[in-house]
Amino acid sequence: MRDSRETISPRAFVAGYPIKHSRSPLIHGYWLSRYELDGAYEKIAVDSSDLAEFIATLKTSESPYCGGNITIPHKEAACLLADEVDPSAEELGAANTLWLEDGRLCAMNTDGLGFVANLDARRPYWDHVDRAVVLGAGGASRAVLQALRDRGISEIHVVNRTIERAQELVHRFGAPLEAHGMDALETLLDGAGLFVNTSSLGMDGTEAPHLPFERMKSDGLVTDIVYVPLKTPFLIQAEQVGVSTVDGLGMLLHQAAPGFEKWFGRKPEVTEKLRNLVLADIEGHS
Ligand code: ATR
Repeated sequence: MRDSRETISPRAFVAGYPIKHSRSPLIHGYWLSRYELDGAYEKIAVDSSDLAEFIATLKTSESPYCGGNITIPHKEAACLLADEVDPSAEELGAANTLWLEDGRLCAMNTDGLGFVANLDARRPYWDHVDRAVVLGAGGASRAVLQALRDRGISEIHVVNRTIERAQELVHRFGAPLEAHGMDALETLLDGAGLFVNTSSLGMDGTEAPHLPFERMKSDGLVTDIVYVPLKTPFLIQAEQVGVSTVDGLGMLLHQAAPGFEKWFGRKPEVTEKLRNLVLADIEGHS
């Protein structure tokens, strides 16, 4: 039987659970229309008990999809179920982008690419720092730590409430990472060039502790991967003492680009127009 994916316009998905609030369809839908491409991108609710079957079906000619995004809570499982996993996703143990190549399901993780592309776009030379401090050691922090290490940052301090989780990441990613508990945070900020919040502190209007960002280098940068609210408590605190900031929305936009190129064959641009569209959607729901 001929595979229908060879003759019809490409279709991609984002699969996760819950999936209702995913903004990926807005981003990919915008690019499809901006570049006048034939194709579709849709969200699919897939719970954990259905994931293995969902992935197995993707490899068959019954599936209409050429690939898609995998989101919470399936990023780890996707990595195990794919046929080919790129080395950096393999090291992370998590994948967020799938595509088919000669009938084999390939996987990569674009979160770290999105993180650095956002900083590259909004703050060139951000990587000219000796010391980076990363708060949080959950799933979201792994891609950031890997990306900072791969960018050649020489000193990366991982600070977490549960120090064992930070230690596990040091073990996973090796030098130049060091693990610390929360009590070390203020001292580590002394002379730091970069602070990244990957914890859930400040997300959805929750409280965040006060941090002495004025102790960072005068050309230091504070960024947050939380983007709801866009101006998180840490970004507000940094701005109040004159430290530059980059918000996390661009990471969401940039991490989407490699998948779009794989499925629809065109490298998309992250523009202010796209950013404003997604921002309006976030503001409409808050
Ligand atoms: P994700 O996969 O999105 O990173 P996660 O695995 O639940 O989510 O991790 C959330 C991060 O925020 C963790 O680093 C967590 O610290 P613990 O590992 O100690 O749980 C951090 N976090 C959440 N609430 C916190 C709080 N009140 N104070 C300090 N850190 C907190």
